[in-house]
Amino acid sequence: MSGRAQNLITKIYSYTADKLYEPIVVRRAFPLLGGDLHDVVEEQGRRAVAAADGRPILDVPIGTAFYTVSMAADHDGLIVGADIAEGMVRRAKKVATDAAADGLVNVLADVHELPFATDSFGAVMCTNGLQVIPGLHGSADEIARVLAPGGMLYCTVITLPASRLVGAAGRRLPTMLRSGLDVAEAFMGAGLHVTAIDRQRLATSIEALKPPT
Ligand SMILES: C[S@@+](CC[C@H](N)C(=O)[O-])C[C@H]1O[C@@H](n2cnc3c(N)ncnc32)[C@H](O)[C@@H]1O
Repeated sequence: MSGRAQNLITKIYSYTADKLYEPIVVRRAFPLLGGDLHDVVEEQGRRAVAAADGRPILDVPIGTAFYTVSMAADHDGLIVGADIAEGMVRRAKKVATDAAADGLVNVLADVHELPFATDSFGAVMCTNGLQVIPGLHGSADEIARVLAPGGMLYCTVITLPASRLVGAAGRRLPTMLRSGLDVAEAFMGAGLHVTAIDRQRLATSIEALKPPT
């Protein structure tokens, strides 16, 4: 996906990847906005490993791989981290090398055009990213496409549900200003079956199954 908003977002994350992102966003903003979000994501990671059962796992957008290295330590198979920001991919590669996470490979990719075959992954992690990515439905469709039948999606998203105040026009708002239910509905529209949804402060966690064929 091109567009000025996406280009700006990509530049901001690339620029902040090395020094600012983890101390400000991950360690301060996420707990403030999402309560026990770190614990929720780590639990989702454990579930993703169990659901994948040795099949590849996709983590998109991976950011700095802050949450991914512990998942990689538990997973016997491949984990692919994908992110649109070159700085984030470089950082995630360094984090994987430093942690000796040999099974974690990182690629530059847009969630709207993932360079993977349909039905490739036993589980997909989508952590704290959809709120800043323009195009909720395109993202959900592409994530659902690469998930294998019987595979599981684990997602967290931070939203300020302003759409409640603006009615139907809210459907056109950026995902950050929509609700966690809107995100769950986007995954259902993409063919996934939502099996769990929970909310803590401004963070919504979603689990969804791609029905077996
Ligand atoms: C708030 S961070 C979340 C990263 C990580 N999952 C975490 O929890 O730390 C959002 C990430 O989305 C990435 N991003 C933004 N637009 C994207 C797109 N279209 N495709 C893939 N990644 C994107 C950014 O580069 C950034 O790394």
